[in-house]
Parts: sequence; C-alpha cells; structure tokens
Amino acid sequence: MAHLKSAFLLVLGIFSTVLGQTNITGLAPKQFLSLPLGSILPTGWLHDQLMLQTNGLAGNEHLFYDYVSDTDWIGGDSFYSTAEEGKFNGMVPNGVLANNSGIIQRTQELLDYVLANQDSTGWMGPEVNTTKPRFLWGRYPFMFGAIQMVENNPDLTDKVVAALYKFVTLANAMIKNNEGLDEWSEARWQDFVITLQWLYDFHPDGNEDLLLDTMLQLKSTGLPWELVFDPQWHGVNIAESLKAFPAAYRFTHNQSDLDNASAAWDILFQYHGRPSGIFGADEYLAGMEAVRGTELCIVVETMFSGSYLYQVTGDPKYVDRVERIAYNALPAELTGDFWSRQYLQQQNQIAAKNMNPPYSNVFGLEPNYPCCTVNHPQGWPKFITNAFVTTADQSSLAQVYLGPFQTTTTLTTGNPVTVTVNTIYPFSDSLNTTITATKAFTYYVRIPSWVVNGTISINDGSSTPLSPKNGLQAVQASAGTTVFILNLPAEVTTESRPHGSIAVHRGPLHYAFDKYVLVPRNSSVLTDNAQQPLAQDLELDATAVWQYAIDPTTLQFVNNPPTSGTLPSPVFDSGLPPLSMTVTACPIDWPEAGDTFVTSPPTNPACTGTQTTIALTPYGAAKLRISEFPVFTAQ
Ligand SMILES: *[C@@H]1O[C@H](CO)[C@@H](O)[C@H](O)[C@H]1NC(C)=O
Ligand SMILES: *[C@@H]1O[C@H](CO)[C@@H](O)[C@H](O)[C@H]1NC(C)=O
Ligand SMILES: *[C@@H]1O[C@H](CO)[C@@H](O)[C@H](O)[C@H]1NC(C)=O
Ligand SMILES: *[C@@H]1O[C@H](CO)[C@@H](O)[C@H](O)[C@H]1NC(C)=O
Ligand SMILES: *[C@@H]1O[C@H](CO)[C@@H](O)[C@H](O)[C@H]1NC(C)=O
Ligand SMILES: *[C@@H]1O[C@H](CO)[C@@H](O)[C@H](O)[C@H]1NC(C)=O
Ligand SMILES: *[C@@H]1O[C@H](CO)[C@@H](O)[C@H](O)[C@H]1NC(C)=O
Ligand SMILES: *[C@@H]1O[C@H](CO)[C@@H](O)[C@H](O)[C@H]1NC(C)=O
Repeated sequence: MAHLKSAFLLVLGIFSTVLGQTNITGLAPKQFLSLPLGSILPTGWLHDQLMLQTNGLAGNEHLFYDYVSDTDWIGGDSFYSTAEEGKFNGMVPNGVLANNSGIIQRTQELLDYVLANQDSTGWMGPEVNTTKPRFLWGRYPFMFGAIQMVENNPDLTDKVVAALYKFVTLANAMIKNNEGLDEWSEARWQDFVITLQWLYDFHPDGNEDLLLDTMLQLKSTGLPWELVFDPQWHGVNIAESLKAFPAAYRFTHNQSDLDNASAAWDILFQYHGRPSGIFGADEYLAGMEAVRGTELCIVVETMFSGSYLYQVTGDPKYVDRVERIAYNALPAELTGDFWSRQYLQQQNQIAAKNMNPPYSNVFGLEPNYPCCTVNHPQGWPKFITNAFVTTADQSSLAQVYLGPFQTTTTLTTGNPVTVTVNTIYPFSDSLNTTITATKAFTYYVRIPSWVVNGTISINDGSSTPLSPKNGLQAVQASAGTTVFILNLPAEVTTESRPHGSIAVHRGPLHYAFDKYVLVPRNSSVLTDNAQQPLAQDLELDATAVWQYAIDPTTLQFVNNPPTSGTLPSPVFDSGLPPLSMTVTACPIDWPEAGDTFVTSPPTNPACTGTQTTIALTPYGAAKLRISEFPVFTAQ
C-alpha cells in the first residue's frame, strides 16, 4: 500500500502551499490560447452528439428539474440553484453551440438575475439579504458560465467585468478575514484563480495587484496536503484540482509547479487509471480493479482540466488522454439518447441495477447524487470549445482534438481563417481538412501518440510521412484554399490489467465485449419523473453469456464504413459503431459477486467449452460490457 499512499500524497500535494518564496512579476503566458465560445462548431457525428444532448436531459433539465430541494445553500431559490451548481456552466456552451434559443434565453435571464441582485458589498447569490453564511465556492461555476457568455457576446463585457471586480474586492477582504472558505472553496480554489487570470489577461483595467494578491490568498488558504487523511476527500476534487499546479505556475513562475502537475497526472493514472482513459474513484481514489467505479463528474472535470493543462504547458500527453476520455469514458456513462446517466461506471459492468443501496449504477435522472445531472452537460461542449487553440502570439491555429469541426477566427496578422474538418474520426483514420485564409500561415494539427505510419497529402499531392514536433504536425497554409488529407492508422494494442487480464485498444478507441450485441436490450424502468416521462431510471441486466477468456494474438480489426458516409444517430449505442474487432474466445468459470457485480478476472482460467469467436465493439457504445479480459491460448 506504500506506493498508493505516496500517489495520494503527490496528487494531493497539489494543495500544499509555499508562500513567500515567489517574486510576482505578473502572469506567465500560456503556450496556447483558447478561442471564444462559438468560434468552433461541431459538424457531422459530433454535431449529432451535441443535438442528442440538447434534446436529452442536458438540454431539458432546466425546464423541469430543480435541485433546490436537495441542498441548503441555495436557499430554495431556483435561479441560484441553476446558476451555482454547475448547471449554468454547462448550459452556456451547450446553448450557444447548439444555437438553442430556449437555452440561450434562459442563461441570459440567469446572468441578468444574479447581477441585478448583487448587493452593495459585492456579494452575489442567495445569501443576499439573509443571515445565511457566505461561502465562495458556489460562485466559481457561475463565474465560468459568465466568462463564456462574455466571450460569445462582447456586449456583456462591461456589466460582467464590473460585477466580477466588485465580487473579487469583497472576496479578497473576506479571505484575509478568514471568511467564506468552506471545504469546497478550499478544495477548488484554482477555479476562482482561473477566473482571476481571465480578468488579468483580458480586462486588467489597472487591477493587477488586486488580482495577483487574491490568487496568492486563495493558494495560501487552499487545502494543505495533510488533508489527504481527511475522509471527506474525493475524486471530483482531484479531477478539478489537476488545474491547481498549472494555475499556480502562472503566478509563481516556478517550473516545479509544472513538473509537479505532470508527475501528479502520471501517478494518478499509473495507480488508478482505466483503459477508458479516466481514473477510478467511487468517492475516493479506487485503485485498479475493473469493478470499481468512476463518477461522471470526474469524467467531465478531468476533460476540462486536461484541456487547461495543455494550454498552459503545451504537453500533448494531456490532450491525448482527454480525447480518449471523450471518445470512451464519456459516452459509456450515458444512454445513447442522453436521457439517462450513471453516477458510477465500471470497466467490467455486467449489470446496471439498484443495489439498494447504493443506487449509483443505474442509468437515470439523478442516481445516487444529483451533482452529475447538473455537471455532465459541460462535457461535450467544452471538449468542442477547446478543440482548437491559437499559438500564444495568435499567428497560428492548431487543431487539438481530432473530429469533425468548423472553426472561424482572425489571426493577429489580420488574417481571417476558416477551417473545416470533414471526417467520421474516431470511427475512421482519415481526416479531410480545408483551410481558407487571406494570408499564408502555419497551421498545426495534433498527431496522437498512438498513430503508426501516419501520412499527409496536401492539395492532392502524394502522401508523405508525418513529422510531428511535440505532437503537432505543421502544415503550410497558403493564401486562398489549402486542402489536406491525414491518414492516421494505429496498431491493435493490448494493455496489461490486474490479475493477468488485458484491455484492447486501437487508436483512440478502447474495445469491449458488449453483452447486448446479439440480443435486444433488456432494460426495465424503475421510475419515471412526474414532469418529464423521458427522464427514466433504467436497470440493465445480462441477457447473454459474458464469461469468456480471449486469445489476444487472434485479435482482428474490422472496419465496415457506413455506405452513406454518415454514421447512425446515436452512434454510441449497442451495435451501432462501424468499427469492431473479432477475437477467439473460450467459455470459462467466472463467478458473479451477488447478482450485480462480476468478480476479478480469473488468472489463467481453464476453458470449460469449445472455442468460439466473439466481437468487441467500442467501449462507449457498450453500456454493459466486459473490457478487462482473462487470457487463454487458442488451440
Ligand atoms: C513539487 O515537487 C517537488 C519535488 O520535485 C517537491 O519537493 C515539492 O514539495 C512539490 N510541491 C508540491 C506543492 O507538492
Ligand atoms: C519553486 O518550488 C520549489 C518546490 O516547491 C521550492 O523549493 C522553490 O523555492 C520554489 N522556487 C521559487 C523561486 O519560488
Ligand atoms: C522581483 O523581480 C523584479 C523583476 O525581475 C525585480 O526588479 C525585483 O527586485 C524583485 N523583487 C524581489 C523582492 O526580489
Ligand atoms: C441561430 O438561430 C437563429 C434562430 O433562432 C438564426 O437566426 C441564426 O442564424 C442561427 N445562427 C447560426 C450560427 O446558425
Ligand atoms: C436587500 O435589502 C435592501 C434593503 O432593504 C434592498 O434595497 C434590496 O433591494 C434587497 N436586495 C435584494 C436582492 O433583495
Ligand atoms: C476533401 O474535401 C474537399 C472539400 O470538400 C473535397 O473537394 C475533396 O474531394 C475531399 N477529398 C477527399 C479525398 O475526400
Ligand atoms: C506500419 O508499417 C509497417 C511497415 O510497412 C507495417 O509492417 C505495419 O503493419 C504498419 N502498421 C500500421 C498500423 O499501419
Ligand atoms: C429482463 O429483465 C427482467 C427484469 O429484470 C427479467 O425478469 C427478464 O427475465 C429479463 N429478460 C431476459 C430476456 O433476460
């Protein structure tokens, strides 16, 4: 257990603070800058995901779902309940990217309401004119939403920036008075720091000292490393705190903060990583076992943290992992129609049932806790918003996440550019990119670390091998139109997992045995929401034999590209993705633990029947699955 403890210590050492050693001379630049919300739009299958989300729970919950009753700090006020729990933070980009007038109107009402009710001290929130204690954290997700609205609509700048400065001035005084710092505020201090850095970068208005001082105050009152021993400590805080070292680096200018960010990331995934890309933490960090769970909030917060880490550091390992999480762990935890979500997902998940308690494993409206209901909507929209960045000097544009997108921006050289990426990636290796620009510039595209024998063909030229530097392939775009085709093949690979088991990958996708692939889904409805019958709680149960060992030497990749060129909608559901694998398998004894969980994969199991061939499908489409397999040698 010693190594686990040191992993805890390093990851949670994020919160230890070394104050007074820093000569603050401003903020260190980021390596890459994000584009304003709305500059990057999804197309093709990714647009379909966004519309499914918009037509599902994420896009409708503000109409029927109030989490007021479940929390006291919101004070029974539905405006604040929506603004402060993270719902607003996801609704803002969802509404804009889907161009959904209902969501856009509602986010505008929420913003107006919160700002109109800011009191003379600068406080915003349900505590205005009450004696309720004031804690800072509820404002952090609200401020993230407000920033995104300003980026999308600069007309809001003056009003929002003025309100934020009133609040920052108050918060600075409160922190110095040791006020406003509850457990969440202390654990999530970096989220406030990132808002302060946004003000510093874009609207400093002579307030640099106030902003830097507040950043230092937040870091110095952030959770100390000793809290690793606090039983309240949990996975979502870790997912969010992955931003703490890079956020601190910008004002400490201390390379050791970036080194620690990198080491914390590596150790977290070394000891708790999942083949789906995410880490295991069913409340607390969970180790490697395939039945230990991962909360949906951890999935979306780690994606957002990884995007930020990349923008500060430029290290491609962060975004390689975010892309894996987005294309595997994220869709696995939601039904294809986005109406039901889990609280906890497992790599080996033979059922999704009410274990009475906990309720964490069913797909539903708010299984176990409501937090992921209101927090999950940020997942796809923020992935889309961070899919392109500019270089720090804003003279170049880079595609960071591979998939179908359209981006329009103006580079600093007075160069309006549009980039259209036509692809069904990750369900194909090929991406067709069209760039239009007024002036020549260097364009970059990320080449994932798993690509083998990748090629590029520019303007119908011959295919030439890729030559990425630090994960980015440079493409010289000329004035006018440049078209290039990327081909990004990958080998079928296996990953060692506990008990001698293996997981299967090819490129960005992880593959699983989908128990529903040959039989109709057997789902039973536990509960309906009274106001929204589509918001169902579903139990899924085994209907097919799943007790197999596989021979990894027999894995064969199968590509059945859609004849229409278009993927089905949804694509992340049973039997629908065009990619699969076949593998030789044999039946084995593999006991269940109760009627819900599978035990650990047996090591070197004996075959109990004749060999057969089974198909593996992308993990995100397999809502019940085995994805860490015992191994045998086929005859
Ligand atoms: C960062 O890592 C160094 C070792 O490289 C360690 O001495 C230091 O305590 C770490 N800082 C934090 C805040 O964890
Ligand atoms: C940078 O951080 C390290 C480890 O946390 C610390 O020992 C060192 O004093 C810091 N350097 C500066 C210039 O603050
Ligand atoms: C902080 O850095 C600035 C700029 O490098 C320098 O002029 C100043 O003397 C430093 N202050 C201290 C207290 O080291
Ligand atoms: C967004 O929708 C409105 C109508 O609600 C339409 O006028 C506008 O052109 C749309 N914008 C985009 C970018 O599609
Ligand atoms: C708070 O109370 C003051 C004084 O009664 C009043 O002017 C103000 O409108 C109230 N603010 C809110 C948000 O209710
Ligand atoms: C790539 O896209 C461009 C623009 O849509 C199109 O003209 C071209 O035929 C496409 N190339 C391939 C190989 O699909
Ligand atoms: C890469 O090229 C080598 C040599 O031609 C070949 O053996 C290998 O199968 C290729 N791998 C992929 C994934 O294309
Ligand atoms: C489907 O699930 C129900 C309830 O969980 C169960 O009674 C039934 O036997 C299952 N049907 C099949 C085909 O497995």
